[in-house]
Amino acid sequence: LSIALLLGGPGAEREVSLVSGSSVYDALVRAGFTNVTRVDLQGPDFRLPEGTELAYNIIHGTFGEDGALQSILEERGIPYTGAGSRSSAVCFDKAKSKKIFTAAGVPTPKAEILDCSNGIVMPSLPLPFVIKPPCEGSSVGVHIVHRQEDVLPAMEKAVTHGPEVLVEEFIQGRELTVGILDGEALPVIHICPRSGFYDLSNKYPWMNMGGGTDYICPADLPEETAKKVQEAALQAYRAAGVEIYGRVDVLLRDGDEAPFVLEINTIPGMTPSSLLPKAAAAAGWSYEALCEKIAELSLA
Ligand code: DAL
Ligand code: MG
Repeated sequence: LSIALLLGGPGAEREVSLVSGSSVYDALVRAGFTNVTRVDLQGPDFRLPEGTELAYNIIHGTFGEDGALQSILEERGIPYTGAGSRSSAVCFDKAKSKKIFTAAGVPTPKAEILDCSNGIVMPSLPLPFVIKPPCEGSSVGVHIVHRQEDVLPAMEKAVTHGPEVLVEEFIQGRELTVGILDGEALPVIHICPRSGFYDLSNKYPWMNMGGGTDYICPADLPEETAKKVQEAALQAYRAAGVEIYGRVDVLLRDGDEAPFVLEINTIPGMTPSSLLPKAAAAAGWSYEALCEKIAELSLA
């Protein structure tokens, strides 16, 4: 099988993708694939090796995860790993996925989508809330705002990523994530940042930005609660039409233990500290077997 391993990309998560992509490349080689070529893509004008039979896409964020790359591969008739172009576009845009979740009855925090193309529009949700650029990953540009005086600076930062801003009700609770492989939920992971929230520095301690995070997998939850979380994740995954695999981020509210779906990552991190590989390991999948399974499902 001739595989082009796509990594890098033009977006803010480029560095993460380079690490994810090298890990997957090594794993595919260890799994016995002899014809794997790494291709660092920067945009739509790219060439894949002659006779590529599978584009193994590990480009997080802009261009790789937002459906653009998927559409090009569809036009060129090259099979690729992961979600299709339409569901990728929905999941990558948190404003679009919010609408789909709400319509499908998926539990998700209340939100407003502000169009700031003619200047900053102030949120009307009550504090505290979370300000997010709708089309970034790895928590790029995400701010939790508790005080009125911090609203404007956070909005100003958010609009540097684009004119649309998502403002979400802040849910006090535990951060969980649910990997999904072939339509089945993997064991729930409880993410415990040692300080603050699970932001860029706590996600990737190898970037030497401090922090660090503890992961508990399977999460320390009563079986019934874990099932409820997995069910909410699957409901979101199906509503957005995702295929092959993905990872759904969920908050579990303190007190009533109600799950709230935040988003679906269709090109989830595959770095050594990433979550999907941990969840898969807890279900008995080695990293190599996981990478191979994704390829196999994508070719079926
Ligand atoms: N956006 C990063 C790569 C993740 O969700 O794992
Ligand atoms: Mg994301």
